[in-house]
Amino acid sequence: MTTTTKRGRTRTAAEPAPTPAETPAAPAAPAAAESAPDATGLTLAQAEASTSEITFADLGLSGPMLESLRRAGYVRPTPIQAQAVPLALKGRDLMGLAQTGTGKTAAFTIPIIERLIGGPARTRALILTPTRELCQQVEESIRKYGTGTGLEVISVYGGVGYDAQTTALRNGVDVIVATPGRLIDHLEKQNVIFDDLEVLVLDEADRMLDMGFAPQINRIVAQIHPYRQTLLFSATMPPEVEALARKYLRRPTVVQVGRRSQAATTVRHYVYPVPGHKKTALLRHLLGEMKADDSALVFTRTKSGADRVVRDVTDAGFAAEALHADRTQAQREQALARFKEGQVRILVATDIAQRGLDISGITHVINYDVPQQAEDYVHRIGRTGRAAKEGDAFTFMSTDEIGMVRTIERVIGQEIPRISVAGFDFGT
Ligand SMILES: Nc1ncnc2c1ncn2[C@@H]1O[C@H](COP(=O)(O)OP(=O)(O)O)[C@@H](O)[C@H]1O
Ligand SMILES: [Mg+2]
Repeated sequence: MTTTTKRGRTRTAAEPAPTPAETPAAPAAPAAAESAPDATGLTLAQAEASTSEITFADLGLSGPMLESLRRAGYVRPTPIQAQAVPLALKGRDLMGLAQTGTGKTAAFTIPIIERLIGGPARTRALILTPTRELCQQVEESIRKYGTGTGLEVISVYGGVGYDAQTTALRNGVDVIVATPGRLIDHLEKQNVIFDDLEVLVLDEADRMLDMGFAPQINRIVAQIHPYRQTLLFSATMPPEVEALARKYLRRPTVVQVGRRSQAATTVRHYVYPVPGHKKTALLRHLLGEMKADDSALVFTRTKSGADRVVRDVTDAGFAAEALHADRTQAQREQALARFKEGQVRILVATDIAQRGLDISGITHVINYDVPQQAEDYVHRIGRTGRAAKEGDAFTFMSTDEIGMVRTIERVIGQEIPRISVAGFDFGT
């Protein structure tokens, strides 16, 4: 199929136009029962039956998409995908709430690709995410599931030069993945126009608001006409996110998986009571016990703390990298790449640097400092045990952090077992 477009671009779709579904009789929206809008005007879809039996073919996806998913090695949709994909395919506005690591990215990239496939080559979808790293992950996801569709996607984020982004935007792309700040710069320079935009995604909405992006989001959405589909995804729903949804989504369906603030279930949690000055020694001890192909993501409260831990463990013979906001974009990308490729097994990060990152296969999350917010604990722990893999979460607790650990236990609704290591605990 060849489509000549307004912009004069020609698209040759390698695959035929999307076929409806491999199993035409499949229910369109499995397990999503809509109830009447509640007082807030939001419609709630809750999982009725177990979604574990649902296959991708049940979701009404095209043949080429099913093939891409098979190639990606996905056997079944995750619960959020099983509920969100059919509704998004129907064009509904949607608010998807599910903890970190539950596959929210594909829950919106799959229906977006299905919608754009074979259509006119104009900028029809915009995805806003809080960080550069997330932009890259979403872009990767679209490339992966959109193989052979001819769809063009770029990500637009700060910390790098404008020229390449400007050229790509002016040449025209189908999908833009962007951080709000840099996108505003391009809008001001009129490098991009949203006249043909059909789908807007606010990904990791809670994080975007945490990072103070509300004004930028407002400015961007003001440039997009109201007859669009808006999808919002978030790990948590504080009142600010609800307000954002009420402002930008039209009669949305709320798809919620799991309880709010629930930590990933495949993670084993442990607290190590340890005096502050012995934390580094304990860390070295635990790293020494890790198996050869284990990997650890270590969290510190401050950027300088992260640098110090990297120095200390490197001195002890462990290769480690730091990921925090004081490092350059190139350094951050390199650190992440080396960690993902397994060249270093230890990544030491601050909260901001890791938000929403999908680093799969981590076996250990180590909270060198107890997180200041219980929600941060849930997010950090979401780095391990992702997509049903198992992981261990170790939290180092000095005497002045005992209260914070109790708060976290209240929020996650479970007591975390204490492990005392002789020589490192309070008694010694
Ligand atoms: N259906 C699936 N089957 C197996 N793995 C999946 C599936 N969907 C997503 N994943 C994997 O799960 C991990 C987490 O997905 P992601 O979209 O980053 O989660 P979230 O945005 O909810 O935090 C990724 O490594 C992704 O490739
Ligand atoms: Mg995500």
